[in-house]
Amino acid sequence: MPKLTELASWKALEAHFEQIKDVHMRDLFAQEEKEAGQRFRKFSTQMDDILLDFSKNRINDETFKLLCDLAREVDIEGWRDQMFSGEPINISEFRPVLHTALRNRSNTPVYVDGENVMPKINRVLAQIRYFTERVRGGHLRGYTGRLIKDVINIGIGGSDLGPHVVCDSMKPYAQRGMNVHFVSNIDPTHLTEILKFVEPESTLFIVSSKTFTTQETLLNAQSARKWFVELTGNEKAVARHFVAVTANKQAAAEFGILEENMFEFWDWVGGRYSLWSAIGLPIALYLGMDHFEALLDGAHAMDMHFKSVPIEKNMPVILALLGIWYNNFFDAQSHAVMAYNQYLRRLPAYLQQLDMESNGKTINRQGERVDYLTGPIIWGETGSNCQHAFFQLLHQGTKPVPADFLIPAQTRNPLGDQHCVLLANFLAQTRALMKGKTEAEARSELEAQGVTEEKIEDVLPHKIFEGNKPTNSIVFKNLDPRTLGALLAMYEHKVFVQGVIWNINSFDQWGVEYGKQLAADIQNTLHARTDVSRYDDSTNSLIDYSMKLNFSD
Ligand code: F6P
Repeated sequence: MPKLTELASWKALEAHFEQIKDVHMRDLFAQEEKEAGQRFRKFSTQMDDILLDFSKNRINDETFKLLCDLAREVDIEGWRDQMFSGEPINISEFRPVLHTALRNRSNTPVYVDGENVMPKINRVLAQIRYFTERVRGGHLRGYTGRLIKDVINIGIGGSDLGPHVVCDSMKPYAQRGMNVHFVSNIDPTHLTEILKFVEPESTLFIVSSKTFTTQETLLNAQSARKWFVELTGNEKAVARHFVAVTANKQAAAEFGILEENMFEFWDWVGGRYSLWSAIGLPIALYLGMDHFEALLDGAHAMDMHFKSVPIEKNMPVILALLGIWYNNFFDAQSHAVMAYNQYLRRLPAYLQQLDMESNGKTINRQGERVDYLTGPIIWGETGSNCQHAFFQLLHQGTKPVPADFLIPAQTRNPLGDQHCVLLANFLAQTRALMKGKTEAEARSELEAQGVTEEKIEDVLPHKIFEGNKPTNSIVFKNLDPRTLGALLAMYEHKVFVQGVIWNINSFDQWGVEYGKQLAADIQNTLHARTDVSRYDDSTNSLIDYSMKLNFSD
């Protein structure tokens, strides 16, 4: 396989970029206005009621053809089939990548080392259903007989962000009286501030850790355990109030979790792709198993779309190709996600790990350093808040920031015409970013406002909007579990497709190890409170200063 930048389609895109880089989307829309609505028809696609309008992008027919040629030249469909069929595409850990099997609602066999893994996936789903229905139904109670009303998930990264964004997004579907909390940070404040508002007798702790070795999770779990025993004086009751979700059952047993309170998943599920596994236990407790399975249904529907729809209408593939277009040809260093829905406020945090821990790589699958940009910086904020935070930069800054805008057509919380105002802002912002405002338009506006000629000359340059800022609009009917599942799977597959094109392994994360390694050594130094000169001058001085400030354990 030739290097990415030597591919025929890549070279064709480079040549095409020189022709189109200064073309304004205003003109692309004008050209095609003659064929009323053609641009939207050509550059949009749908999966169930999820519509992707990608017409406000700096592309024409030729661009889109060449991007699709690129997907075919790197054999996206072949790689996709390898992933779904359990090939060990996670090459540095010699593992398959099978989060799709977790939501394989067709139940067709999926083999790992000759074993059809669907039976054990279904066994764990049944275990989750049984457990959560007993807790939610009041049949499984705290050791004093009180109902469980607070669930605290202790986990970090993929053992936190996935279930966290889902529970946050699905509040309207939650059972009244059941609260779910997420503790992830090693900062003692995180656990402390949550424990202030719960009682041990009615609290269930879920210790979520694929490896069951993550320092933050184990320390938080031990502190929670200590809190529980100190308040209840009942060591034996721990077993009733602590369960574990892990791929390392032995370590969970050593922590004191009973076998029947362990929910397993497997090493062929990446942490950041694991919310569909038993890591979704807090989701099932909070929303009920039927809603959790609706989430799986939605993800499965997106999997089927990804597997069967031609590249030209394939939602994850299109998002991936457009991301490559801006990242590698327009030198956009980041990609923003604006969810115009307050329930989705944690979506950027989830996508940051999904995207940046998958594609923040410089070494390709052959072990060589790449000579092109790979994963973008992912960030974002809910709309309309984003408009009052950083839209100045998006509209008139010097940095290109391609962005996804998402919105449900319907709201769960009708309040006057506020949802209409939200939708109007969603539509206005993507239009403004695309068309901008010309000097002539700005001038006539100022004249119409009666601004004097002299003042117009002063203020006019600041009132011009270059426009030509690309956005994808994703509109769907309702933010319900099925739709959310489909959207999250869409982003998983987008990340996968980009990793294939960049020829990197999206499924390991060696980059997170080094910091942890150094922290362990510095932690010992802090405890020893001895004079420090063994690190660099900055670290030595910072340790010394922290001590002077009476650093407290
Ligand atoms: O951030 C590194 C990482 O390994 C993530 O990939 C993972 O989701 C997180 O830490 C937590 O790991 P575990 O679930 O094993 O505690």
